[in-house]
Amino acid sequence: MVTVTSIAELQERIRDWRRAGDSIGLVPTMGALHDGHFALMRHCRADATRTCATIFVNPTQFGPNEDFASYPRTVSADEDNLRAVGVDLLFMPSVTEMYPPGHSTRVRVGPLGETLDGTFRPGHFEGIATVVTKLLLQALPDVAVFGEKDYQQLQVIKRMVRDIDIPVRIEGVPTVREPDGVALSSRNAYLTPAERAVAPALYRSIRSVAQAVAEGGNPDREAARGVEALERAGFGRVDYLTLRDAETLQPVADASRPTRVLAAAWLGRARLIDNVSVAPL
Ligand code: PAJ
Repeated sequence: MVTVTSIAELQERIRDWRRAGDSIGLVPTMGALHDGHFALMRHCRADATRTCATIFVNPTQFGPNEDFASYPRTVSADEDNLRAVGVDLLFMPSVTEMYPPGHSTRVRVGPLGETLDGTFRPGHFEGIATVVTKLLLQALPDVAVFGEKDYQQLQVIKRMVRDIDIPVRIEGVPTVREPDGVALSSRNAYLTPAERAVAPALYRSIRSVAQAVAEGGNPDREAARGVEALERAGFGRVDYLTLRDAETLQPVADASRPTRVLAAAWLGRARLIDNVSVAPL
């Protein structure tokens, strides 16, 4: 695996591979890598002859009071693990490489990025759309791979690529979980042992809401029950727990179309997000 830090070197490597007839896959990350990320790398390896991973803690997607400065950074372990999983190239740009002085252009996707996490984290999806657009145009991969763990992010990116004609196929990979159901996340490192013991309630609650709605339960009523279950389990503020159309992320009255349960809730200083699909009737 080669590690490069400039856009020019990234493009040089990819140009050589293109000349040799390779197909290119891209897996953007912010590092602090875990098995969820590695599942994306493996998916990508099966889908393209060359896999490029990126590690960039993207400042534009963090709010002023969020954890940009303290976001976990574990670069040398990440490099070892990416090498072991068979990644061909790691692109690790600096903030000034990605955002040179004077940069001002932003990509805004519209309603999909303004609901759910978009209301609680203003500007978050604009930052994501902007950095992902830049990475896609820098590398021009055949395929780019993202996790369903960040379901709204995946939908935002799919919409964006369609809307502005970025020539890439977007692949979603199911959420990788701990044996007790907790979705792997770099931010789980913020949990104390006591909070970690409470964390499985999130997946348990959204799954039981999904089940109840699949059996004909009312989405609003079941969602309210889910919130109560989280609070009883020991979660702090629940930002949302809601049933949405799986593609538009608009509220639904029933599960007649593909539907998703999405939730975000605080546990100590960690804000956990998770989602599951509602099985068709
Ligand atoms: P990050 O949180 O590092 O996640 C990188 C990718 O890994 C995302 O596509 C995310 O959905 C996926 N992922 C994280 N945990 C996962 C899990 N438990 N199972 C499956 N996939 C998982 O998401 C970002 O970084 C950034 O917003 C980024 C897209 C890189 C733009 O800055």
